[in-house]
Amino acid sequence: MYNKLIEEALKAKKHAYAPYSNFRVGAALIDVDNKIYTGCNIENISFGATCCAERVAIFKAVSQGQKAFKAIVVVSDSKDFTFPCGICRQVMVEFKIPKIIVANFNGQFKEYNLEGLMPYAFDNLNID
Ligand code: THU
Repeated sequence: MYNKLIEEALKAKKHAYAPYSNFRVGAALIDVDNKIYTGCNIENISFGATCCAERVAIFKAVSQGQKAFKAIVVVSDSKDFTFPCGICRQVMVEFKIPKIIVANFNGQFKEYNLEGLMPYAFDNLNID
């Protein structure tokens, strides 16, 4: 079901720029029109300037005018599943990404949603 997305995320991982961590990540995001946007992690010598693969994919999509998504896949070179960091989860909350799929290099995957990965998310600016 998610084979194509996993394949695209694995391809995107090849472009990872990760000279500091050597931890290469790929992401593939599918929108409501079935268009796929990919991302890889892009590190920086000033580590805080690093951007994760998931945010690269999401920001690519949003910058091209799309804000409605079906799912995002995350892969790394690890035999373990790689889960999105807290900042990426917050960005996923912003765009209400319904399915988050973590896959390993063998193509095995697990499926989550934001209720599970980001409970009690910061999602409003109410002050009263
Ligand atoms: N990273 C991602 O790109 N996505 C994740 O889900 C986890 C972490 C990147 C950031 C950094 O370049 C490297 O992995 C190590 O933290």
